[in-house]
Amino acid sequence: METQKKSHGAGTLRAKDADVEVVLMGWVNAVRDLGGTLFVDLRDRTGICQLVFDPEDGAALEVGKTLRLEYVVAVRGAVRLRSGTPNRHMPTGEIEVRVVEAELLNRSAPMPFPIAETVDANETTRLKYRFLDLRRPPLQRALLLRAQAARAIRAFLDAQDFVELETPILTKSTPEGARDYLVPSRVNKGHFFALPQSPQIFKQLLQVAGFERYYQICRCFRDEDLRADRQPEFTQIDMEMSFVTPADVMDVTSGMLRSLFQTLKGVDVPDPIPAITWHEAMSRYGVDNPDVRFGLELFDATEASVGAAFQVFADAAGQGGLVTGLVVPGGAALSRKDIDGLTAFVKTYGAKGLAFAKRENGAWSGGIAKFLTGALADVLAAQAVSDGDLVLFVADADVSVARTAAGRVRVRVAQQLNLIPEDAFGFVWVTDFPMFERDSETGKLAAMHHPFTAPHPEDLPKLESDPLGVRARAYDIVLNGQEIGGGSVRIHDMDVQARVFRALGIGDDEAKSKFGFLLDALSFGAPPHGGLALGFDRLVAILTGAESIRDVIAFPKTTRAACLMTDAPSPSSAAQLQELGIATLEIAKQEQEVATDDEEK
Ligand code: AMO
Ligand code: AMP
Repeated sequence: METQKKSHGAGTLRAKDADVEVVLMGWVNAVRDLGGTLFVDLRDRTGICQLVFDPEDGAALEVGKTLRLEYVVAVRGAVRLRSGTPNRHMPTGEIEVRVVEAELLNRSAPMPFPIAETVDANETTRLKYRFLDLRRPPLQRALLLRAQAARAIRAFLDAQDFVELETPILTKSTPEGARDYLVPSRVNKGHFFALPQSPQIFKQLLQVAGFERYYQICRCFRDEDLRADRQPEFTQIDMEMSFVTPADVMDVTSGMLRSLFQTLKGVDVPDPIPAITWHEAMSRYGVDNPDVRFGLELFDATEASVGAAFQVFADAAGQGGLVTGLVVPGGAALSRKDIDGLTAFVKTYGAKGLAFAKRENGAWSGGIAKFLTGALADVLAAQAVSDGDLVLFVADADVSVARTAAGRVRVRVAQQLNLIPEDAFGFVWVTDFPMFERDSETGKLAAMHHPFTAPHPEDLPKLESDPLGVRARAYDIVLNGQEIGGGSVRIHDMDVQARVFRALGIGDDEAKSKFGFLLDALSFGAPPHGGLALGFDRLVAILTGAESIRDVIAFPKTTRAACLMTDAPSPSSAAQLQELGIATLEIAKQEQEVATDDEEK
């Protein structure tokens, strides 16, 4: 039978296929032996179908009796309507296949965990046996949807005249600001390639080369601290276009997202997708990746706090800081313990506390209610407030601490009170990011996006005098509070690029050694250009409702940047290292120990 062709997917058979002769091949998902007759659930990529082995077909039944979970089997038989009541829980529940011929194609060792919709096994076991975890329906669905998404994106961009081009993996350090993964060169000992954090520089060079519209679904590598939405290698939908403004890039991206969500989910993405400036995002939501699926927007109570009776507020306002608050509908239901929990939560963002009051019988009570008079009462009166609501405040001399803490607690409390509509998709563009931010450790200016991002033309004169006041022609696309993509219009003028490098403290020599080829290229008629990259894993995770991008990557790494299945990374042999001209600190230590031992002898 191995020589016969599989005729149907097990999960595709329906009542209309009754009497059709089929050849099915797949895995044993379940076995029920009812004395004489044997029922086997056969699973393949398309789903599950019930097989019936009847004593009338003795040879087939003999094979059937040897079947165990996850054995691989081929069967031939006819589809028939089930005699009993159909199984409403299975798409194939109206039919079964009466087997007349069966062949065992392979056996399986016992499973470390069941191949089921949900399993109890811990993630370590599941990652070690990832090839088995991937057999489970939720992971099959996620990866099939991922492939469908990639196909839809290619179709959209191809139709828009984009050219798919590849860029090198063995390359030089790129400027996204994470740590690089390095690859030693055997031929040029002591020299290293860096794996690309993105194709940023190459896609710009492709514009200088005249391709006008480029895209690539490509892998990027960043050695950074990992979280649920960050992997050391991840996939971008990377795009770059010539002769464009931010609005052009945003339009193409919005169109692509609209087409993707329509094709895959039947969801209408708003046209246009709303856009807010970075400043607006920070003051209304406290973060640059706002979740716009719900309200609870922040209000500013700083001015009203000048000279307030509550010293904490008065101090923050007096020190040039921020007092910001939010009204939580129905939040009065939270217990003292809940509020203590939220207070501990804001402290993890550096806030000193969380002030609150509850709205009851048309008045504020509890917490700092007695201080909510005068100007503070006026600010609250301007908010929509009802009985049963809660107001929360964070005050800090450091504006960004107060904002971040308030922005995070906004999402946290909305989650706790189930105020976030689960099946909504909240898209928003965030535009006009600042060009620079100050690195809290070194005190130096750093590029908020990357150093090739173009400054706002109006702000160019401020590049040297007031760099922190310069806006960039940069934009992020945010979905459900996650940054799913970002990009910018780039600098195409060599002189502006040199000024930006100088503002970043990158000297002419350093610029030349790191990015000389780009500066060179800009001097040969570089067209105005810009682009964007979407985080494909994050996008697919949201499309499938996965909590972590690990669930939509076939072979992901742990938060310790390791692959539990292959045991990578692993030590290299001394011979291999020697060939590369590399001594590791570990080897150096061992050699030194041996040398010391020899001396002592
Ligand atoms: P940026 O660094 O913002 O821009 O990356 C673009 C998008 O990639 C996703 N992303 C990640 N996803 C998973 N794991 C990670 N470690 C990770 N890091 C980033 C995010 C992010 O929005 N070259 C520029 C783009 C451009 O300017 O055109 C770039 O890489 O969703
Ligand atoms: P205390 O004056 O320390 O007893 O605090 C009174 C209330 O104010 C408590 O609920 C604190 O969590 C809160 N609080 C303290 N510091 C701040 C702050 N910087 N911002 C907002 N609330 C604060």
